[in-house]
Amino acid sequence: MSDDLRDYIRTIPDFPHEGILFRDVTTLFADPRGFRMAVDRLVAPWAGRRIDKVVGLEARGFILGGAVAHQLSCGFVPVRKAGKLPAATLSRKYQLEYGEAEVEIHDDAIAAGETILLVDDLLATGGTAEAGIALIEQLGGVIAGCAFIIDLPELGGRKRLEGLGMTLHTLCAFDGL
Ligand code: PRP
Ligand code: MG
Repeated sequence: MSDDLRDYIRTIPDFPHEGILFRDVTTLFADPRGFRMAVDRLVAPWAGRRIDKVVGLEARGFILGGAVAHQLSCGFVPVRKAGKLPAATLSRKYQLEYGEAEVEIHDDAIAAGETILLVDDLLATGGTAEAGIALIEQLGGVIAGCAFIIDLPELGGRKRLEGLGMTLHTLCAFDGL
């Protein structure tokens, strides 16, 4: 049994486009030891520190964020793809490789001054996380850190979020796309 999280992550070539190596965390989530290790390692830097809410980014960030929030005994707030949240929202558009995406947060989900931990499975260009950060900050949330299992450093997300003054914790990295 491996302690290296990369050994639990499946790689699918040419998904969703030719030339992309898709890092599939469903195999890590499905493994009791892998999932426990990932959640424990995401939580470790924050144990004993005040986090009011975990914000998870749809969809894989929900699975991780819920587990992290439970372990930190704090609340969980979803950032969802546009059109899914039922009450009043703030929304933010961001660029994808092809086209544009939009995410939303309930406008009463975070109170000004609350301390937030942002959680997602993977950091690539950082566009999704940046949109989440903007929504949290628009509500007055104070982001203590951003936690991801996987970093793809060549896609620049880490530099982009560090440029926004974010504290980042990533658990493993893969070279290339
Ligand atoms: C993937 C991944 C991250 C995001 C990272 O999600 O789960 O959320 O892309 O890419 P970025 O850093 O370039 O923004 P995806 O948009 O595929 O949606 P899903 O999580 O709902 O499957
Ligand atoms: Mg995602």
